[in-house]
This record gives sequence, structure tokens and C-alpha cells, in this order.
Amino acid sequence: MSVSAAGLWHRRAVDADEIRRFWAEQARAHGESPSASWSDHRVIELEIEAIGSRLAAGERVLDVGCANGYSSARYAALGARVLGVDFVPEMIEHAEARRRALPQEVASRLEFAVGDIRSLELEDGSFDAVVSTRVVINLPSWEEQLQGLRECARVLRPGGLLLLSEATEQGWQRLNALRREWGLPDIPMPPHNLYLDQERVAEAVADVLDLEEISDFASSYYVATRFLKPLLAAAAGADVDVSDPGAELNRWAATLPPAGDYGTQKLFLLRRR
Ligand SMILES: C[S@@+](CC[C@H](N)C(=O)[O-])C[C@H]1O[C@@H](n2cnc3c(N)ncnc32)[C@H](O)[C@@H]1O
Repeated sequence: MSVSAAGLWHRRAVDADEIRRFWAEQARAHGESPSASWSDHRVIELEIEAIGSRLAAGERVLDVGCANGYSSARYAALGARVLGVDFVPEMIEHAEARRRALPQEVASRLEFAVGDIRSLELEDGSFDAVVSTRVVINLPSWEEQLQGLRECARVLRPGGLLLLSEATEQGWQRLNALRREWGLPDIPMPPHNLYLDQERVAEAVADVLDLEEISDFASSYYVATRFLKPLLAAAAGADVDVSDPGAELNRWAATLPPAGDYGTQKLFLLRRR
């Protein structure tokens, strides 16, 4: 199946209400754990490192689609003043519980609110940076994804940075091409996701955002855990979970410097004009 055909299939299979129900269920099942957002905690940590190193202390940061605030709290601990918003109220309840348990100095830099990336009830130009990690891929159509991206740009001040970590069609295809060469089946796109075409994104927002970089921060991790690990498992006849964050191979893979363009997940750095 081609990527665009897969995209169309996903748009028909899962609508906006189902996506919201999926995330509400994740909130109920995982509470304050990072698993509410993704079972692969190692990629979450790589993502926080890549984004956190680009935020300055004192900056006003919007973390849109913050889930239970796991990453938002980390950015606040680095010194940023963070507002986390998510469209699932249960996620925000867990984020609030997290905030209350933090040292006062960090908690004082952290706020949470229910909000939708497609229509943010926030003033134009009110943030130095906007962070969006694995959120835009949850919007059920390209039109809504673009609407979300434009909302992120709208609330950024001129010169502010949109840090967008999203699964891309390019990274996904490249990884699957590597797997195919060795007889491994393609990794499917999850039914609640619609991966981004990185070139289309850059072109569609070029009037308001300059693309400065696309960082393939997790490429080595993907090669080690989604290519080498299943290959080794098949050779050894072992039944392994490739995204098990507690596995030794995943622990080691997360220490590798990024190399190549095999990361499904990529970090876009887009500067507000
Ligand atoms: C994969 S999780 C990512 C969470 C968080 N950004 C992180 O880094 O761990 C996706 C989150 O996006 C939220 N989300 C999905 N669609 C949204 C929308 N239209 N507006 C706001 N949040 C949304 C979901 O509720 C979920 O909490």
C-alpha cells in the first residue's frame, strides 16, 4: 500500500471522536505515567533532551497537546515558564496533580488548561516558543493539521520558535525500506495517526514560519530497536517488545549519537517570521 493510500485509509477508518476517546482512555489507563503518551519512554527522553536544549530559562513556552504534563514539567524544571494545554480534560487533571506534587519553585512556572490546537484561546504573539510533540499527527486530515500548525504560528512572537516533533512519512518510509531489504514486514501507521509529509509542511507554512532545521534526533535509536532488534530476535527465536524502555538493548540504543534519516519521529525547528 502506498503512503498516500495509507493516509486516506486512516482518515476514513478513525474520526475525530474516536481519536479523542483513544486519548481519554490512555489518560485513564496510565494516570501520570509517560506511557499515557507513548510506551517508548526512551524516545520521549530523547525528545525532551532535543527540545529542552533549545529552550532558554525564563522563556514563555506553550506545550500544546501536553497530555499529563510529563514533558511540560521537565521544561519548567529547566527554567522555562510553561503553559500546557490538551483537549482531553482527564489528561489535564493528571497534569494538575503532577504540578501540585512539584517543588514550589518549579510549580510556580507551570500552568495547565484544556485547549485544542486547532483553535487556541490564546493571544497572538504571546509565546517565545511553542512545543508540539506527537500531536499534529493525531488530527484526522491534512486541512486540520495545517489549521493546528497555523494556530501554533499565530501565538508565537516574531522570531519565536516552533519545536515540532512529529512522525513523518519520509522517516517511516525510509525505516520500512531498510526493514524490507532484510525481510522484515513494514511497521504500520497507528490507526489514530496521520503522519506528516515534511516537505509539504515546510511549504504550506512558509508564509509565516521559516524552516531552520529538521533534526533526526532518534534515527540511531530507531535503527537499533526497529531494525536490528527484530532481526536479532528472529535469528535467536526470541519474542521481544521492540519498544520496551526497560530492555538493555533500548537502554544502549538511546545513548547512540543520531546518525542517518531513519527516525520516524523528527524534530522540526520553525522560526516565526
Ligand atoms: C502522543 S500524546 C503526546 C503528549 C505530549 N506532547 C508528550 O510529549 O508526551 C498526544 C496528545 O495530544 C493530545 N491531542 C490530540 N489532539 C489534540 C488536539 N486537537 N488539541 C489538543 N490536544 C490534542 C492528546 O490528547 C494527547 O494527550
